[in-house]
Amino acid sequence: MGAGIDAELVRKLEQLGRVSDVPGELTRTFLSPAMQRANDLVGKWMRQARLETTVDAAGNLIGRLAGPHREAPTLVLGSHLDTVRNAGKFDGALGVLLPIVALGELRRRGVTLPFAIEVVGFSEEEGVRFSSAYLGSKGFCGRLKAADLALRDEAGISVAEAMAGAKPRRKMRDGKSSHRDWLGYFEVHIEQGPVLEKRNLAVGVVSAIAGQSRFRLRWTGKAGHAGTTPMDLRRDALAGAAEFALAVEALARKTSGLVATVGQVSVRPGAANVIPGETVHSLDVRHARDAVRKKALFQLGRLAASIARKRGLTVHWQRTQDNPATACARELTATLARSVKKIQGPCPSLVSGAGHDGVVVSLEMPITMLFVRCRDGLSHHPDEYASGRDLGVALKVTIDFLEALARQQA
Ligand code: HGY
Ligand code: MN
Ligand code: MN
Repeated sequence: MGAGIDAELVRKLEQLGRVSDVPGELTRTFLSPAMQRANDLVGKWMRQARLETTVDAAGNLIGRLAGPHREAPTLVLGSHLDTVRNAGKFDGALGVLLPIVALGELRRRGVTLPFAIEVVGFSEEEGVRFSSAYLGSKGFCGRLKAADLALRDEAGISVAEAMAGAKPRRKMRDGKSSHRDWLGYFEVHIEQGPVLEKRNLAVGVVSAIAGQSRFRLRWTGKAGHAGTTPMDLRRDALAGAAEFALAVEALARKTSGLVATVGQVSVRPGAANVIPGETVHSLDVRHARDAVRKKALFQLGRLAASIARKRGLTVHWQRTQDNPATACARELTATLARSVKKIQGPCPSLVSGAGHDGVVVSLEMPITMLFVRCRDGLSHHPDEYASGRDLGVALKVTIDFLEALARQQA
């Protein structure tokens, strides 16, 4: 393999990892100034790899390598360029930069593929700004709904208003792309979990992505004087939300395979000497089996209602996301697994507890994912890390996978 393409990938990850909206940490949210700078930087690298770049109305960066003829199907390779707050530099970025480096290597080898390629940097996968994930891949697939466009961020700006400010150079797909157009979608992503490290393996394939539901809950009580209001006369919205958050944790701890998280909380009026009159918080619930997730949501609904009744509060639920468990395509994943076995030997198959753009893209085309070991399984944290050696294995597997697909298509 070309000398040092692992090092080239590490350099690119380091450089992109410094493009942030917040000095001293890595935070890039939907259509932010840092996302514009990230699109400019990665777009330059795409053009150096001879990809023709555009940005669509959802802010997705798309680098296209035409196929040998107009009828050739397109293989999509990609991941997201947005991040969580104070993120690591591998989550998302790896899946956009690795294909660019791999395509550069194939070009150096004089390999031409019998299909077109689109490398995509999705503009929004994490759901940080609007509490709803996958806005980028929904835009790419022509699947943004009115409810998505109406979501508002903390400043009250809607998705539609935020996108109106974007400078598209290509309109989003109109959702009419026929399945004939697509060969499939391939995403390389850090595992964000402990399995590969425990197995002491660099890479593995993904069998399915866990189902995921997200909500915003608004608890309403009565603000009042912290010094003069007796405890038995209070309707404290934060205390009710806190009791519910502990109940969420308790239910997830006793339900095998269920994970549930309250990650964002805001309290009003938010003064030390005022009883909280209102609390709004997020709720994220996931499981590999939809029936278990749905049963847990039913139980949490009843728990919230009983806490509200007991405390004289009202609680309002707003669903901001609901994705079923998504299976990766058997045939495409079998081809990927053969490349893993050829390069690494063992080929573990994992369920992803983390969500990925493939959940949306799977509605358009077959998807397959390659996981890369990350230290301590840590992610959504600045210490997130994947070694150059493991990235080299992922590059080798990707190149072998593309060549195997080329042989199948020839
Ligand atoms: O939240 C997730 O699972 C992913 O990181 N978007
Ligand atoms: Mn993430
Ligand atoms: Mn991710």
